[in-house]
Amino acid sequence: MTFARIAGIGSYLPGDPVSNQDLIARGVDTDNDWIISRTGIKTRHLAAPGVNSSDLGVEASRRALEMAGIEASELDLIIVATSTPDMFFPSTATILQAKLGNVGAAAFDLQAVCAGFVYALSVAEKFIKSGSHKKVLVVGAEVFSRLLDWKDRNTCVLFGDGAGAVVLEAAEFPGILGTAIHADGSKNAILNVPGQVSGGNITGEAFVRMDGQAVFKFAVSVLPSVAKQTCDTAGVSMDEINWLIPHQANVRIIEFVGKKLGMRPEQVVVTVGEHGNTSAASIPLAMDAAVRDGRIQHGQKVILVGVGGGFTWGAALLRF
Ligand code: UT7
Repeated sequence: MTFARIAGIGSYLPGDPVSNQDLIARGVDTDNDWIISRTGIKTRHLAAPGVNSSDLGVEASRRALEMAGIEASELDLIIVATSTPDMFFPSTATILQAKLGNVGAAAFDLQAVCAGFVYALSVAEKFIKSGSHKKVLVVGAEVFSRLLDWKDRNTCVLFGDGAGAVVLEAAEFPGILGTAIHADGSKNAILNVPGQVSGGNITGEAFVRMDGQAVFKFAVSVLPSVAKQTCDTAGVSMDEINWLIPHQANVRIIEFVGKKLGMRPEQVVVTVGEHGNTSAASIPLAMDAAVRDGRIQHGQKVILVGVGGGFTWGAALLRF
């Protein structure tokens, strides 16, 4: 039987951190204490004009490939989770593929907003388990700042740009112990970007619109349950989990989910303070930080949980 294991991980944040005070200096009607007490966010990174998701993704991918000791040319599948693609088409995955210098791998984008990374891991694992693909790059890359209305303080202080990537490899023993993904399209109105392009113009609003409290309530209900579902299916008890890595949107949601799952605060990886909500990039950004600073050790079990617009949500249980 073939399984998928994580062979390498990398992440990338563009430019210098932009503090809450910097946003105020730029004219956003907000205050530092409000942002920190409601979200835990202290800084975010904003990509320079002309820098796209593929540019951030390629930096994260190079770091992941280097850790894996794998050349880009060896990859046989590239999946990019993003809601902020470089273009309508071609896919950001094919643009990233060209920048990495790979020719011939299958490459496609996956759109599940902030749950995109767990969705993409789940899909990639199935390709590997089927035996059809052996070396798979999974990337979460976003330039969410392009979708922000800087006059809407309910949303603009929350998001940032960044990318994270993992290289998955076929293995004899499982590194991905289980995944679960779900969606409820009836909830699409509480978080969306209600814009379209037609006849060369944008119709509707090409800005993030969100009912923050509805999103909050939904996230704290589905994240603990999908974590438990994934562990139950894999036959792993929550006591055996070393690390929880939730989607990095809001420290209050993260703490709530940690408590509900019975994790100690020091077992929960939290990086939202440094980069804000980077949508599909947030989980691999947090995981990369915890791998590189030595918190996540070989043999340990890690549960990832993500939730995003759609609504979409899911979890992945990993053994490093
Ligand atoms: O990937 C999923 C993405 N989204 C999320 O995870 C967001 C989930 N939701 C949340 O994190 C929270 O609902 C927010 C952080 C967005 C908001 O926190 P809240 O405690 O639900 O605040 P609220 O919406 O009830 O707003 C309370 C007050 C309002 O003022 P009044 O009407 O009570 O006077 C807002 O105008 O906070 C005000 N407010 C702000 N004040 C300063 C809203 N945004 C800001 C701001 N700075 N940026």
